Amino acid sequence: MYKFSDMVTKMRSSEIRKLMKMAANPDVISFSGGMPNPDLFPVELMEKIYSEIPLQVKQAGFQYCPTAGYPPLIQSLKNYLSEKGLPLEGNDLIITTGAQQSINLVTRVFVDPGDRVISEFPCFIGAAATFNSYQADMTTIPIDNEGPDPVAFEQALSMQPIAKLVYLTPFFHNPAGIIYSRERKQTVIEILCQHKMVLLEDDPYGELYFDETDKELTVPIKALAGEQFPICYAGSFSKIIGPGLRLGWLLAPSEIIEKCELAKQSMDACSSTYSQVLAHHFMQSGAMPGYLEFLRAEYKERCQIMLDAMTKYMPDTCTWTIPRGGFYIWVTLQDHMDATEILTKSLQAGAVFVIGKAFDPENRRNNCLRLAFSHTPKEKIATGIRIVADAIKNLS
Ligand SMILES: Cc1ncc(COP(=O)(O)O)c(C=O)c1O
Repeated sequence: MYKFSDMVTKMRSSEIRKLMKMAANPDVISFSGGMPNPDLFPVELMEKIYSEIPLQVKQAGFQYCPTAGYPPLIQSLKNYLSEKGLPLEGNDLIITTGAQQSINLVTRVFVDPGDRVISEFPCFIGAAATFNSYQADMTTIPIDNEGPDPVAFEQALSMQPIAKLVYLTPFFHNPAGIIYSRERKQTVIEILCQHKMVLLEDDPYGELYFDETDKELTVPIKALAGEQFPICYAGSFSKIIGPGLRLGWLLAPSEIIEKCELAKQSMDACSSTYSQVLAHHFMQSGAMPGYLEFLRAEYKERCQIMLDAMTKYMPDTCTWTIPRGGFYIWVTLQDHMDATEILTKSLQAGAVFVIGKAFDPENRRNNCLRLAFSHTPKEKIATGIRIVADAIKNLS
């Protein structure tokens, strides 16, 4: 009937969105959404911070702001990123409408239809959907507990035509839950250095390490590799304040940011000034470190409850990752098993998760699934895991 564009015709509906609809029933225990539990949001803290903002600044919050972002927030973020060891010289920072928009901007700036994009398998669904929407040709590299397989990575980078973009999520990966080891991160840097490929480093979860001793593992590739190859570093407030703010940032070589800013002008002119004012004052208030400590302890506890229940209920035919931060546990089933069948059974019994295929840009592998521990009420985690485990056992 309608002559839709090629771009839209080739888009696939996100499996997560479909599942979220099914999981809307309050009796279903959901491990599907990669979002914080609402009880964890800093609502009172934000109310206090907002009430202390001068009237003129509040008024500015209802106004448009520059496409690159609300200047005071840009400054706060630059201070924060330079403390994390990220290089500011030769780079610029743009405020985006979440990391999702940063992925979209970088893809728009580099990728033409048919261009190769390299990502990990599994891959964040929102990134895969973006690459797909720009009609990229996806090549995936498997990851293990330490990061991407170096041999597969090297092979993918050597493929012809040469890839335009590499997309990696080194810290508390969505959905795999892993963090790159120090050695693997170094190997990744060495390989990228040889190929001088543009890297999009996506880091929305880096602050959510469970143990202080792991903090040093969260040093971004961009902080370690300097200017040896171009790196676009994407961060977000979604997991450290709340996704409703719709705020992220992108730190990249100035020439790239210039193009991203042009691309953003035609997308949304600017990200919510209101959110930016709030985020800036949150950062200025000095409350962020304490709030992050609270979040880390909460997610660590939720994760442990889930891991204990998995040890108790899961059949020994499946394996899973042991997260050191973030929101997710990635379960691998026997080769012949299909996560969609397990989901159907599990949903009937009252628990939902996301099937592995949703995270496969090549849409093939489905003997795996993602469990998010970030959102489920603590007291329901063990019951939900038992339901999922029973569904797996039934179909084994
Ligand atoms: C790896 C990864 N990147 C990007 C995003 C998008 O984050 P935002 O809410 O900042 O757009 C998410 C959200 O779940 C994510 O897991």
